[in-house]
Amino acid sequence: MAMSNLVLIGMTGSGKTTIGKELSRRLPLSFIDMDEYIEAVSGFSIPELFKKGEEPFRSLETDACKALAAKKNSIISTGGGAVVKEANHQWLKKTGLIIWIDRPVRLIADDIQIEHRPLLKDGTDVLCDLYKEREKIYRQLADIIVINDRSLEETIDSLIEQLP
Ligand code: S3P
Repeated sequence: MAMSNLVLIGMTGSGKTTIGKELSRRLPLSFIDMDEYIEAVSGFSIPELFKKGEEPFRSLETDACKALAAKKNSIISTGGGAVVKEANHQWLKKTGLIIWIDRPVRLIADDIQIEHRPLLKDGTDVLCDLYKEREKIYRQLADIIVINDRSLEETIDSLIEQLP
């Protein structure tokens, strides 16, 4: 029987991409990064898109949520803010099983490269504020919650154990 898609949600720097790629080696699912999809479709990088303003980017993100809901046999790593617009929730739920990768903010702050994350250009305080804002949305949407505060191997094992 075909497996349902897995949708990884969580803060920027929480490990969605690393975990998603590794998971796709362990499961018969291919990996799709929503930010890369948006870059490919729009022809602009995420920092370039943000220069035009956050709203146009968010609207492309909604288009991506809709388009990727039609995928099969995939692991989709979403951007950290893809859950903020309520209109996106129906698409994310339709896409598959939603997994919240929850990484403590202090660990994110230790290893993130701020220059690649336009929302964090004003420093890591923004990270804490964003986490406070988004935590309840991630929790509410998640079918499965995985705390990413261990090795990649252990985090993936605990994720796979929780799959239905
Ligand atoms: C964002 C997270 C980024 C990217 C954009 C906005 C956010 O994705 O979509 O910079 O609002 O948290 P990652 O979570 O993959 O870094």
